[in-house]
Amino acid sequence: ADRNTVEIFEVGPRDGLQNEKRQIPTAEKVALVDCLSRAGFRRIEIASFVSPKWVPQMADSADVLAGITRAPGVSYAALTPNMRGFEGAVAAGADEVAIFGSASEGFSRANINASIAESIERFVPVAEAARAAGIPMRGYVSCVTDCPYDGAVDPSEVARVAEALLALGCYEISLGDTIGQATPEKITAMLNAVLQVVPASKLAGHYHDTSGRALSNIEASLDLGVRVFDAAVGGLGGCPYAPGAAGNVATEAVARRLADLGYSTGLDLDVVEQAAEMARQMRIEAD
Ligand code: HMG
Ligand code: MG
Repeated sequence: ADRNTVEIFEVGPRDGLQNEKRQIPTAEKVALVDCLSRAGFRRIEIASFVSPKWVPQMADSADVLAGITRAPGVSYAALTPNMRGFEGAVAAGADEVAIFGSASEGFSRANINASIAESIERFVPVAEAARAAGIPMRGYVSCVTDCPYDGAVDPSEVARVAEALLALGCYEISLGDTIGQATPEKITAMLNAVLQVVPASKLAGHYHDTSGRALSNIEASLDLGVRVFDAAVGGLGGCPYAPGAAGNVATEAVARRLADLGYSTGLDLDVVEQAAEMARQMRIEAD
């Protein structure tokens, strides 16, 4: 792809909403996704086939997938931690799936009730099934610089997990600053380790904006060749198993910064702003 083109992978309907306390009606989620579908995104994460006891907000994921108006060329993505999740996602018509692991043991245990090694084992059948079904699979690595339980995370640990997810067949590895504690320096050190084992063309940055540094972390990643960034309209978000995690970096802020830096995203910023307003409204109603 063109060096001056950057893709924003919209995760608002999943990462953004999963932590909201109010159970948001399915119709509101569908309306948000339908608005996002008009904004020019190529990929939108809208569902998560996890335990409804762990993340009640995502319990209607199949209904969301059934309710949306699909825009041609848009891939609607779902998180799938295990075979049960994978089968649910496929039955509901998800276009792509994602497995999600962690670079730190503490978060792995808290988030998916497994050690890092156990989680990779759990992903093996999901990866085999995805390959057999021809369904693209993405991989997340959480806590790429800092863990809410274990503290600082060594870049070599991130590289190790990223390499394992790539070996399982993930077409792209999304690197999560889950609690938004990264700095450009930490991101640079982390990426330099990961780039030894995964090319920049297969990496994405997934930065939460807890400390207001996500845009700086994106700039540091651009300098090392990363051209895909996850973001959530309206800066929605947080992770239920990462205390203190604020929202994902706001899509509209990333799009504006990228435009200022001379990158094109192909997004219709007026529509993105409409979706951001819907997202903010959903959060206000939740409080
Ligand atoms: P477990 O307890 O180890 O697994 O949970 P289990 O197989 O023993 O199942 C436990 C219960 O969950 C059982 O129900 C299963 O039926 C049910 P019960 O007998 O208690 O009634 N179950 C399921 N239900 C629906 N769909 C499924 C499913 N699997 C089991 N697929 C498990 C393991 C992974 C399921 C659990 O830990 C879980 O659901 N965790 C969810 C964690 C989560 O969704 N976190 C947020 C997403 S990750 C994130 O936000 C980070 C990211 O944004 C990147 C970043 O920012 O860093 C991606
Ligand atoms: Mg996240």
